[in-house]
Amino acid sequence: MTTWATATLALYGAGGAALATSLAKLRRRFALSQAKHASLAGHARLARRLAAWVPFYDYDETRFFCSDDAPAYITARRRAGFDRLSALHNTRFAETIRRTAEAADGISDLQFTDAYRVPFQYSRYVRTRLPSAAFLQSSDGVTVTDLDGNRFYDLSGSYGVNVFGYDFYKQAIERGATQVHALGPVLGSYHPVVAENVKLLKEISGLDEVSFHMSGTEAVMQAVRLARYHTRRSHLVRFCGAYHGWWGDVQPGVGNPLPAHETYTLREMSEDSLRLLRTRRDIACVLVNPLQALHPNEPAPSDAALLNSARHAHFDKAAYTDWLRRLRAVCNERGIVLIFDEVFVGFRLAPGGAQDYFGVRADLVTYGKTLGGGLPIGVVCGRGDLMKRFRDDRPADICLARGTFNSHPYVMATMNEFLRHLQTPQGQALYRDLDRVWNERARRLNDRLRAEALPVAVANLSSVWTVCYTQPSRYNWMLQYYLRAEGLALSWVGTGRLIFSLNYTDAEFDAVADRFVAAARAMQNDGWWWSNPAQTNKSIKRAVLKEMIAHRLFPART
Ligand SMILES: Cc1ncc(COP(=O)(O)O)c(C=O)c1O
Repeated sequence: MTTWATATLALYGAGGAALATSLAKLRRRFALSQAKHASLAGHARLARRLAAWVPFYDYDETRFFCSDDAPAYITARRRAGFDRLSALHNTRFAETIRRTAEAADGISDLQFTDAYRVPFQYSRYVRTRLPSAAFLQSSDGVTVTDLDGNRFYDLSGSYGVNVFGYDFYKQAIERGATQVHALGPVLGSYHPVVAENVKLLKEISGLDEVSFHMSGTEAVMQAVRLARYHTRRSHLVRFCGAYHGWWGDVQPGVGNPLPAHETYTLREMSEDSLRLLRTRRDIACVLVNPLQALHPNEPAPSDAALLNSARHAHFDKAAYTDWLRRLRAVCNERGIVLIFDEVFVGFRLAPGGAQDYFGVRADLVTYGKTLGGGLPIGVVCGRGDLMKRFRDDRPADICLARGTFNSHPYVMATMNEFLRHLQTPQGQALYRDLDRVWNERARRLNDRLRAEALPVAVANLSSVWTVCYTQPSRYNWMLQYYLRAEGLALSWVGTGRLIFSLNYTDAEFDAVADRFVAAARAMQNDGWWWSNPAQTNKSIKRAVLKEMIAHRLFPART
């Protein structure tokens, strides 16, 4: 063969190889696109870009009451209702509001949560007329009391920490402090109570080892780090909408100033995602937050995003169990570490957590919140081979995890109170017929709402509830203020998440239901749910988008 012919052949060969590589890359890219959820939450980079594009604008006092083009008589009813609510709010919560306003300047978190209680277009006017009242003086049973002495039924659940009722945690903190008083806050060495906690956690999780951290976020960081270390792979998979704390790698998209390059956000309960897990070689772990079973692929529901009634939630235990089983099988096949992030649901659904509740085992499990017995905590339980932080044959190849306050004696002691209570007949009794009790309560409330033709319905995953709205409206977020006026305390995400402690009696729940129905009735009477028959959730979305575009293009004119 001539030199020329050899060179041509080599060139063809190289070209062919490059083409094959490009095609393979394209195929991988296509498979990834298919496994993403169609929503913005499924496309982190695009969501960040769009979020940066959204212009600020808000409604003046007139537009505030008729942003859906309601007729004058409805606008007048809304205005009268709002004035009444505002007067009640400012009188009944006067001292709490005063103290909140005084402190707000210096509390960054309060400024943030306050700004995002309702959609931003309405936020400024709401804040001036229904100012935030963020302080409480005490808790008792299932109630909390503000600085004015108003008692509220607590539906905030303290971000999910409150599973057994506040009185239990008060006792746990008191008893725990007594238990470790002699040692005090000595760190580095362990109080003997740590050994018992480890024993109990191993029994509960069915896993071999335990590590203690200071928050759920840190526990998740450590679980992912261990998975990467042992698999020597780079990427983590999380599912669309799922919250796993605020560490950058598990929180791609809006809220994180940097892109998370080593994170795949996939569609939950999807064959395409399973297919992707079967084909890619760079996936170290899959993170599951079982709370998503209530609203797969949707972000945590918050009233700040409640511009129409498209919020949807429905828990199907059989379907989610089937999904987890299939995920487990694929992870086994591919050597991918399956992590259950039970920071929220652990100990809420069943004494053995989500593994117990769904009957599916994970390789690593993170716990937090309630497990601290009322104090801050994050825990990783895992298989021995995955928990190991060094290699016997490579002494310099380690997986570092530290933390000054890890295994803090006071936290370990309150955790011990929690874990021991879990074993008692009283503790176990709280879980008896749990789903039946909470499903029945949700059904009863929904029956009442339907009987009064109120456009509201609740959906629940056991004792975690979310409020959905059954007819298109721009004003659903107002319900949080009517609920407050009826003596129901919500967290800053409003009606997006109601969290009940398991010690609610039927009588206490009925009182909550009475107040809930009364609040919805008052809101209905005040005209907020008036709806033009031509209005749909889509038409509201389109109208809001148009407003945004107009404000972006012509900021001065609009
Ligand atoms: C599932 C899940 N993972 C992690 C976290 C983060 O926990 P923390 O707030 O203690 O850092 C949370 C908090 O809400 C959570 O719900």
